Amino acid sequence: MDPVPKSPIPCHVGIIMDGNGRWAKQRGLPRIEGHRRGVETVRTVTRAARELGIRYLTLYAFSVENWKRPQDEVGGLMSLLDYFLKRETATLVRDKVRLLTIGRTAEMPENIRNLLAKSCKATESFTDLTLTLALNYGARTEMLDAAASYARAVAGSATGTPPPTWEEFRRHLYTGDIPDPDLIIRSSGEMRVSNFLLLQAAYAEFVFTPTLWPDFSKADLESALADYAGRERRFGLTSEQLGPWKPAKA
Ligand code: IPE
Ligand code: IPE
Ligand code: MG
Repeated sequence: MDPVPKSPIPCHVGIIMDGNGRWAKQRGLPRIEGHRRGVETVRTVTRAARELGIRYLTLYAFSVENWKRPQDEVGGLMSLLDYFLKRETATLVRDKVRLLTIGRTAEMPENIRNLLAKSCKATESFTDLTLTLALNYGARTEMLDAAASYARAVAGSATGTPPPTWEEFRRHLYTGDIPDPDLIIRSSGEMRVSNFLLLQAAYAEFVFTPTLWPDFSKADLESALADYAGRERRFGLTSEQLGPWKPAKA
């Protein structure tokens, strides 16, 4: 893998989909209406990502911390996820989008686990776009799970096992089979990562937009990509050491 990506189109885009509640509040609607509209945005953005040539799209849909929200909101989010998976699997198959999940999905309700298993199985052979849903996801929890997985892998090996390289260790993260994000977008004006892909984002570019997630459009995604294309990613090197592709605004 080239350590310095040369393409102005990010291979992997992660999105912290935020602002559903405020979108609803602004309209005097219950929060769940914002989430309902947010699901429509997921469809729009997945289609746009495919059209724009993004290979990996990772959407932060439900964090480990989100269980602490009021029970009716958590229940409503689970119902929407159930609805999304039932309705969208056929579209994902038609559009050749592979579905993956990251997070402690084993702790999700049984109906969701079954639907996820079916959708992932039905789409596993596709390679153009991989849509990864972060569900019951938290980067710290992921780190604990990766450390435990790594410890199991080395248990029983001879004492004095050398410390792992990052390439070896990263295989134990939930994202072990997919590349790190090049670009992370957060909607709704908040400028924080809220426990999303902390390790994988070590060299990601960030774009924050005030747009609330239900209003996020293909144009917003294009605008983030334009912003990204203007960045110079140096990965610790000097500008002079970088290869031939130069960002538009360098
Ligand atoms: C993001 O929207 C969706 C989830 C976290 C599940 P929010 O529900 O966080 O919306 P705000 O931040 O309250 O506006
Ligand atoms: C982050 O949004 C989680 C998801 C988008 C699923 P939150 O709304 O939960 O994050 P905070 O609480 O504002 O940091
Ligand atoms: Mg929020």
